[in-house]
Amino acid sequence: MLSKIDKTKFNTLIEISALINSDYRNIHALLTQILESASRLCQSEAASLLLVNHIRQELYFEVALGSKGSAVKNFTVKFGEGIAGWVAAHNKSIIVNDVENEKLHLKKIAVLVNYPPKTMLAVPLRLKNECIGVIELLNKKDNMVFSRDDCEWLEIFANQAALAIGNARNFESVQDEIQSLKQELHKDKGYHVFIAKSPVIKEKLEMIERVAKTDSSVLLLGESGVGKELFAEQIHLKSPRADNPFVRVNCAAIPEGLLESELFGHIKGAFTNAISDRKGRFEAADSGTVFLDEIGDLPLSLQAKLLRVIQQKTFEKVGSDSSVKVDVRILTATNKDIESLVEKGEFRSDLYYRLNVLPIYIPPLRQRPEDIPELADFFLKKYRAETKKQFSGFSNEAMEEMLSYSWPGNVRELQNCIERACVIGKNDWIQKADLFIKNTPYLDEQSGESGRNLKAALTVFKIHYIQQILKENHWNQTETAKALDIQRTYLSRLIRELSIKEN
Ligand SMILES: Nc1ncnc2c1ncn2[C@@H]1O[C@H](COP(=O)(O)OP(=O)(O)OP(=O)(O)O)[C@@H](O)[C@H]1O
Ligand SMILES: [Mg+2]
Repeated sequence: MLSKIDKTKFNTLIEISALINSDYRNIHALLTQILESASRLCQSEAASLLLVNHIRQELYFEVALGSKGSAVKNFTVKFGEGIAGWVAAHNKSIIVNDVENEKLHLKKIAVLVNYPPKTMLAVPLRLKNECIGVIELLNKKDNMVFSRDDCEWLEIFANQAALAIGNARNFESVQDEIQSLKQELHKDKGYHVFIAKSPVIKEKLEMIERVAKTDSSVLLLGESGVGKELFAEQIHLKSPRADNPFVRVNCAAIPEGLLESELFGHIKGAFTNAISDRKGRFEAADSGTVFLDEIGDLPLSLQAKLLRVIQQKTFEKVGSDSSVKVDVRILTATNKDIESLVEKGEFRSDLYYRLNVLPIYIPPLRQRPEDIPELADFFLKKYRAETKKQFSGFSNEAMEEMLSYSWPGNVRELQNCIERACVIGKNDWIQKADLFIKNTPYLDEQSGESGRNLKAALTVFKIHYIQQILKENHWNQTETAKALDIQRTYLSRLIRELSIKEN
């Protein structure tokens, strides 16, 4: 038992318990705080929190405090190797007050970072009795030695930290499960999960809430891969037609000769291969929504027929004289400059005006960098599950790379990039090299605007700056918030939103 209850230690423990119950999403910050408190209360010069990677049978430094903290983080420790490795393998605490003469001590890291410890205290992080990591304190201040009392206190802190990790892991796996269930639910009907973080996309979604209630045609505009199809889904899902069919047609993907029959259906004998009557997509979408993608590729011959559907809600099947009546809402999208097609006479102006009642422009990804971390995280979770790997997230460098890249292929390119990174990535964190981004400055040919726009540049600056001040303050968030002259809660939100990590 602890010899006497130290009031400061006791209060710190209460503080930490409260934090564990409130801020379990930001696990790294929480562990940093627990380690800081443990180190301060047991008067150590340096401290590390290592976690077990079961697949690789090694420990990696999740948090490392002290003057050599950032250097130490480049190393890993094999199971059973060194003092931390021994603690992990035996699931037992150890006090070493003469490190120099201790056989277990691994001199390699100490020599490489030029920090030879004299005294050490290391305790296991236990979750359901299994060792998931190790906390070690190095060099008790004022040339003192670690006592049994220090060890017992550190074990209590380690229990708190293990509890926090357990909560965070549960939370994460529940979140993953919710996301995958949501996706399953949507996938059944072919819908996607929609991620929206940037003010501009949130604004567009609000606009869609209003647009969805009407039956007006909507023309979605924007570069390839910005998410036009996902916006069309959202309009349908937020409309009174949500429980009825949502039928997609890519006008560019179906050969011109088949498109009429595909859209409007045919009767038996209408053409050589028409061996029976067939419903078209418009009939299939009755009482729901038709989404015509790549509308700029709709042949002129079919444009007149589509105009009639919009105006009179009727059409004839191929080979038939009798009219079919349908109740569909029409959504269209294009990445072409449709006005210039109208000017060239390749697109009927009367149809254009009917389709363009409500034009919605989706900006490219490089103009809304706030969406990048959120989308990247979303795709990481998706492909992490598919590749059955255990990535924790992106390294700061990788995130910076993604934020400063211009993404000419927009969200689709980001998605492909992360899928590839999940397949080839080996580390716990996705590294910059895994992304394979050719980050050359990019000029938008049409607008002449630089790909590295001001917003993206400011975000990159924010990450760098906050990281630097955090480093100067040994990742103590309270001190950092003071130095930055902002609220601690705001700092903690920035850390989470910008995925800032100590690496
Ligand atoms: N906001 C978003 N949230 C989640 N995924 C998104 C989002 N926007 C786009 N995506 C994903 O990016 C990919 C491209 O989106 P989408 O097909 O909607 O783009 P598009 O604008 O229709 O492209 P194209 O002009 O090439 O047809 C899809 O796989 C989609 O799931
Ligand atoms: Mg599309």
